[in-house]
Amino acid sequence: PSSEEQAILEAHQWLTKLYHHLLRHTKDGKQALAYLHDRGFSDEVINLFQIGFSPLSRDFVAQFLEKKGFHKQVMVNAGLLTTNGNGEYFDRFQGRVIFPIRNPIGKTIGFGGRTITDQEPKYLNSPESSLFRKSNLLYNFDIARSEIRKKGEAILFEGYADVIAAHQAGVLNGVASLGTSLTETHASLLRRYVDTVLVCYDADNAGLSATYKAIKLLKKVGCTIKVAALPYKYDPDQFIQEFGEVKFRTQVIEVANTEMSFIMKFLKKDFNLNLEGDRLHYVEKVIEEIALLHSSVERDYYLRELADEFKLSYDALTQELMSQMRNVQ
Ligand code: UTP
Ligand code: MN
Ligand code: MN
Ligand code: MN
Ligand code: MN
Repeated sequence: PSSEEQAILEAHQWLTKLYHHLLRHTKDGKQALAYLHDRGFSDEVINLFQIGFSPLSRDFVAQFLEKKGFHKQVMVNAGLLTTNGNGEYFDRFQGRVIFPIRNPIGKTIGFGGRTITDQEPKYLNSPESSLFRKSNLLYNFDIARSEIRKKGEAILFEGYADVIAAHQAGVLNGVASLGTSLTETHASLLRRYVDTVLVCYDADNAGLSATYKAIKLLKKVGCTIKVAALPYKYDPDQFIQEFGEVKFRTQVIEVANTEMSFIMKFLKKDFNLNLEGDRLHYVEKVIEEIALLHSSVERDYYLRELADEFKLSYDALTQELMSQMRNVQ
């Protein structure tokens, strides 16, 4: 790394400590700490994940970094400060709860700052840079890695809060793709460690669409996929808060669906199954998906399920599947 990158890395480690200290031990941090406790985060996870707070000050962090000898313009490049171009420098994350984002060896390389006063955006993140590339970074991979290896399975969440709440609930193999856009780089990264990925995105419309896309990407790199069974509109962190850790483990994670049962449900939303034409079209769509399954046992299983559900002849569906599979090859 260049000396500028070195300085940026060092500044991130200092700020992780500073933000965390401000949250834990100062009057400025009290409201943020209460916010986190209200959300159900324990002191143990607040410490483990080094959660912090950036005070509601224009230049507290700017002054701290200057005292440590960092060049303010370099800190602007790093996305830690902003400037108005008149030689004035300001703190980027003013008044936000800080989630340090760590690289695979546990060094902070970016921050996610959550508003506690309903500001837009909800999360202000560090900007993309050569050190911080969201497209090939999985939040919490450093802490989750050993459990991921041990289980042969990784759980993919949408957000910081979900990973942390799951960890607190004893689910230690969770990582997040920081927003809803999983990339092929993320998928390949996971594939190097595991056979199975359990997708546990938010069960809102955005999250369900993202789940469908993630399934496609994960399949492309050869993963076995499971999909968590969250009730509609819930995200994992909300579920844990409302129903508790035990139910999260036993009713969401341990009973995760296969990818096909997710897909069959997901595709239904585009059709009005009261209409004959839509029903037939839906059945065709599902058969297209079944044709992509690698195991003949699985193909047979879902074909029978489909035949049962729509009172169609299994033989006719088999013929349709055969012709679809010829198309795929
Ligand atoms: P969500 O909107 O689902 O947030 O976005 P969340 O994780 O449930 O957050 P809480 O519970 O309200 O605190 C999922 C992820 O998308 C990214 C963040 O990484 C977030 O964790 N995101 C979301 C942003 O980067 N910016 C935003 O404004 C919103
Ligand atoms: Mn979401
Ligand atoms: Mn969410
Ligand atoms: Mn949430
Ligand atoms: Mn058609």
